[in-house]
Amino acid sequence: MTVKHLSAAAFAALGFAVAVPATAQADELVLYCSVQEEWCRAMSEAFQRETGINVLMTRRSSGETYAQIAAEAAQPRGDVWWGGTGDPHLQAAQEGLTAEYVSPMLGELQDWAVRQAETSGNRTVGIYAGGLGFGYNSELVTEDPPACWADLLDPRFEDDVQVANPNSSGTSYTMLATMVQLMGEDEAFAYLAQLHDNISQYTQSGSAPIRAAATGETAIGIVFMHDAVAQTVQGAPIVAVAPCEGTGYEVGSMSIIADAPNPDAARTFYDWALTPAAQEIGAANNSFQIPSNLNAATPEAAPRLEDVNLIDYNFALYGSSEERTRLLQRWDAEIGSLAQ
Ligand code: F6P
Repeated sequence: MTVKHLSAAAFAALGFAVAVPATAQADELVLYCSVQEEWCRAMSEAFQRETGINVLMTRRSSGETYAQIAAEAAQPRGDVWWGGTGDPHLQAAQEGLTAEYVSPMLGELQDWAVRQAETSGNRTVGIYAGGLGFGYNSELVTEDPPACWADLLDPRFEDDVQVANPNSSGTSYTMLATMVQLMGEDEAFAYLAQLHDNISQYTQSGSAPIRAAATGETAIGIVFMHDAVAQTVQGAPIVAVAPCEGTGYEVGSMSIIADAPNPDAARTFYDWALTPAAQEIGAANNSFQIPSNLNAATPEAAPRLEDVNLIDYNFALYGSSEERTRLLQRWDAEIGSLAQ
């Protein structure tokens, strides 16, 4: 079944109003997905089931997906980039790699999700939010657990902390930008250089460190708090921490790729992904972010932003092409080089 075979009534029954021109060949969607594989699959399957549009999904981290879209710019292969931290989505918007689209669903969204659209000239939109923090394995850290960013420098955690590489991972870039905003840039790089002594591995994916902590491979993983909670909910001895000094957060985002091969299917997915029903697929698949649709249920286990000492994260600045590129170059020169 393809979309052009669906009647208007069938579309209305899906719970969202989408105008599909009678001539549209909207039977395929190439989806670049930057959340957990389990959630990516569930979203792809649900959309395919509900619309008959065949989804070809690839899962990659936020920075990697940005780089892929930039590399394919002359001949775009993807239609929608769904999920991943907002900064690289904003960079893609600024560079014209993603297309303008104002969804009729915008009025149902949280302010922070709409602000993301405004900042980007409607080239991206917020789909979820979550605070940055870390998680520790309570079977490995039995005394005096870390509560602050400063505690992660303690020599007793030598080779026992993991965080991702900020080039590939949006989580780790959020940490880099958070430290710069919390401490000032030179102090942030001094902190990261000192933290390096305790880092056993810079992973590719942002959530890998907490999966490693869950299995006891490392004691501490620096991740979004919802990724730590996901491990706790699945029975791992992981405790999520909101760092005492304050922390940053992400506005997980979605963008339509410029000159996408299947623009009608892209817009159909975009509108659907902003519905409450589509956003509630996350919680059913071990993902505990705050959904952007005001009518979507917030998962009970989701760390609430209002309970966390959040900085006023400057998405416009840290999602800009110049700043993200510059900070990543400095990270490579001063921190990444230490790992070689
Ligand atoms: O799905 C988990 C998650 O932490 C999202 O909240 C976030 O947008 C994404 O993964 C970041 O992944 P990465 O750090 O690998 O880019």
